[in-house]
Amino acid sequence: MYYSEELIEEIRSRNDIVDVVSGYVKLKKKGNTYFGLCPFHNEKSPSFSVNGQRQIFHCFGCGEGGNVYSFLMKYENFTFPEAVRFLAERAGMELPVVEASREEKQKNQLKASLYDVNKEAALYFFRMLKSEKGRAGYEYLINRGLTDDTIVKFGLGYALNYKDDLYRYLRQKGFEDAVLKESGLFTYTERGVYDKFFNRVMFPIMDINSKVIGFGGRVMGQGEPKYLNSPETILFDKSRNLYGMNYARTSRKQSFLICEGYMDVIALHQAGFHHAVASLGTAFTSRQCLLMKRYTEQVYLTYDSDGAGIKAALRAIPMLKEAGLKTKIVNMKPYKDPDEFIKNMGAEAYEQRIEEARNSFLFELDQKREQANLDDPEGKAEFYTDVARKLLEFEDELERNVYIEAVSREYDIPKESLEKSIRKQSYTYTGWEEKRPKEQTPEKKKAAKDNGILQAQKILLTWILEEPYLLERISSFIDENDFLEPVYNKVATLLFDQIRKQEINPAKIMDYFESEEEHREVSALFHEPLREEMSQMEKEKALNETVIKIKKHSLEEKSRKAADIKELQDIIREQQKLSSLHISL
Ligand code: UTP
Ligand code: MN
Repeated sequence: MYYSEELIEEIRSRNDIVDVVSGYVKLKKKGNTYFGLCPFHNEKSPSFSVNGQRQIFHCFGCGEGGNVYSFLMKYENFTFPEAVRFLAERAGMELPVVEASREEKQKNQLKASLYDVNKEAALYFFRMLKSEKGRAGYEYLINRGLTDDTIVKFGLGYALNYKDDLYRYLRQKGFEDAVLKESGLFTYTERGVYDKFFNRVMFPIMDINSKVIGFGGRVMGQGEPKYLNSPETILFDKSRNLYGMNYARTSRKQSFLICEGYMDVIALHQAGFHHAVASLGTAFTSRQCLLMKRYTEQVYLTYDSDGAGIKAALRAIPMLKEAGLKTKIVNMKPYKDPDEFIKNMGAEAYEQRIEEARNSFLFELDQKREQANLDDPEGKAEFYTDVARKLLEFEDELERNVYIEAVSREYDIPKESLEKSIRKQSYTYTGWEEKRPKEQTPEKKKAAKDNGILQAQKILLTWILEEPYLLERISSFIDENDFLEPVYNKVATLLFDQIRKQEINPAKIMDYFESEEEHREVSALFHEPLREEMSQMEKEKALNETVIKIKKHSLEEKSRKAADIKELQDIIREQQKLSSLHISL
């Protein structure tokens, strides 16, 4: 680990998780636990819990969980050392300079170097744009209506028309091939190394902390491809980032404007719409929806007005809905996209279009109506049926009624016939079920059975954490080595040790785990929903059964690996002992 265990623990103990999380999520106290709406998935009722006593959080809905460090890593996209530094600063603590492990050091160094490479490259492109050699690029941008301020704000640049200009520059700056190779900026061949971008205006792509993680480059005029983008690298994950988000997230507007292109984002920001973002030359992803959901409930799709734009909007709408975002569609007609609209009509007219934006459900119906042949009675009937089926998507009756009202008015369909058609179709409608969890397959059932052992290990750990005195009662039958699942084994080892030393500290246990997956798993252990009140007898029975289950499985595994007769005999003796095991409370 990067910093010493004691230091990490001290920083953690000086940052109460309830305080820290409260800065991001509205929490309400219920008993010993605080609840709120989970920032990591969309939900209407709170299943995100923070336990101040144990200093951990867990979401019963999506399974996210961990301590204050993992919360920040997840929420702010921090690395572990970044989270440590952030919290140290928050608590007003000085951090010593410490050595990291070799592997960590290498990875951190590579990442840091790649940030440097990207930054240097962006600065270089920017300087070139302002140089004599880059005049064509600069003029191109100015001709497209950008101001110098905008060029600076987005760090726009120009890649010269040479085959290895940037490469030679960065080599001369002292960057090694090992690093440059990982940057995605160059093509390495047997004959030499070439710049990926040349003779293009350059758009640096920044993460939410305004660090450059990649580039898009546009040809000036005609040419293929119109935009060339950096490939994904260890810094650049296209599905997790949005162009312009570094500015949009602090715009203080109550919504985001989602556009298709770099130039749209830039034109909108220049016109005062600082909440515009775009996906990065790839299809919109659900991760991007969740990223936006952290900051807002409302988004506007301001896509191109052509067929492709409509298709992209129809694809995005259900994803946004799934993430719990309310969506409206902004009409850019008769212009192609926001950039052209603003250029021709100005910011006020665009603001007007936002106000008039179409509800996404009605937009979907509009598209269906476009496709339908309403002059033909059959086509008309088909459209009505379609509308009714679409209305069935609203599982909530109140909401559905509001839409029936609106649809009947907008499309001039009598309300009664809509309702009748909906009733008729509701018998065969399966949409709601499709959204619910699927039936279990036989394979899944078998896996569930194997899960029984894991469950038992999990339950016992939770139980011991709640009632540490149990450890003593069971210790003559079972110990940490009987927890065979690696994660649980580690937890048992750490937890039992803490109990023996009378220093129980679940959040500290978290620090021994690195992956997100492990953090979910371990936090779930410490946040099991409380069981129904059990009588003493029931409790005793359950405890015995659980211990026996774990021990039996552990002995079975041992006997499979037994090296000699002596060992096997020992195991058999223990197995026999198991049948008469009784722990009393
Ligand atoms: P558009 O083709 O709509 O271009 O692509 P645009 O944004 O209007 O660009 P200008 O105004 O002609 O300069 C929309 C977005 O799709 C991605 C880019 O992110 C672009 O901004 N794209 C497009 C690519 O990645 N590669 C391409 O070849 C084309
Ligand atoms: Mn455009």
